[in-house]
Amino acid sequence: MSINKSFEEFIKGIPKAELHLHIEGTLEPELMFEIARRNNFEIKHKSVQALRDAYNFNNLQEFLDIYYEGASVLITEQDFYDMTWAYIEKAHSQNVLHAEIFFDPQTHTSRGISFDTVINGIHKALDDAKEKFGITTKLIPCFLRDLDANAAMETLNQACAYKNWITAFGLDSAEVGNPPSKFKDVFDAVREKGFLTVAHAGEEGPAEYVWEVINLLKVSRVDHGNHSLGDTTLVEYLSENKIPLTVCPISNLKLKVVSDLKDHPLRKMLQKGLHITLNSDDPAYFGGYVNENYLALAESIGLTKEEVCQLAKYSFEATFLTDEEKELLIKKVDEFYKKNL
Ligand code: ADE
Ligand code: ZN
Repeated sequence: MSINKSFEEFIKGIPKAELHLHIEGTLEPELMFEIARRNNFEIKHKSVQALRDAYNFNNLQEFLDIYYEGASVLITEQDFYDMTWAYIEKAHSQNVLHAEIFFDPQTHTSRGISFDTVINGIHKALDDAKEKFGITTKLIPCFLRDLDANAAMETLNQACAYKNWITAFGLDSAEVGNPPSKFKDVFDAVREKGFLTVAHAGEEGPAEYVWEVINLLKVSRVDHGNHSLGDTTLVEYLSENKIPLTVCPISNLKLKVVSDLKDHPLRKMLQKGLHITLNSDDPAYFGGYVNENYLALAESIGLTKEEVCQLAKYSFEATFLTDEEKELLIKKVDEFYKKNL
């Protein structure tokens, strides 16, 4: 299904939030090579093109292997700043007014890079985002679920020195075989310290993992959540309690969570009353930022202007902003809609 130019401009122009974005997943090959060069770090692949050619994944693990390898070029605070700033410029160009950004501290601390280096570089770029573009952000460190709970607890302790910069904690990496229950005590500690929680669940793992992140980790949002649809009671629960799912269509296609975007469950999710937000996950690896995710769905399953508007409003409703801040942003969506009917 092709979409006309004016609808394309409507999608690109509508104000939106991004709530599922791994900052390490925004590291484009060109910047990766530039950072590697200045750090005297040798990348296995010989060129930007060779690297891009390797971005073919049959599942989450195949992607994670390349993604962690890519992140290993990041060494100095400036590296983390440059990666984050490149994303902010992209977000600004796509009318993202607010972003809640994941990062993976353990990917770096396990290589001897200090937590301080990582968060200082990212945070400085987010400060500049507010000052230069008026983009607001929240920061969400994620625990790697294929590592053990003690390592996660240690990361939580390191992060506590930066309490004012952190809103919530998340859970990511290899899902199957690493159930959320493994991190119940860590997430109890996270909430005791006053942070909110989110977690990846139901991307490759079963609906049971989605129940676990709700009941044990007490998440405010579920990241992905695709496999929730197989459990009617769960779908009703998510809908009744307005628990948002941060869905990432192009990621789902590239990691073979769906075999064709025409089969993407987004329409079914919306029909069931789920609060869905559209996001890009790891755009440098999957070939699309947030606007491309909206456009890809519009082209594959067909979206109306009203549905695009609803998705943009859900994206702001699902943020960790205050009710007043959310209202202001939702009003911007309504104004945009009225002007572009
Ligand atoms: N880390 C980065 N992207 C991820 C994804 N889609 N699922 C789990 N962990 C991730
Ligand atoms: Zn993700």
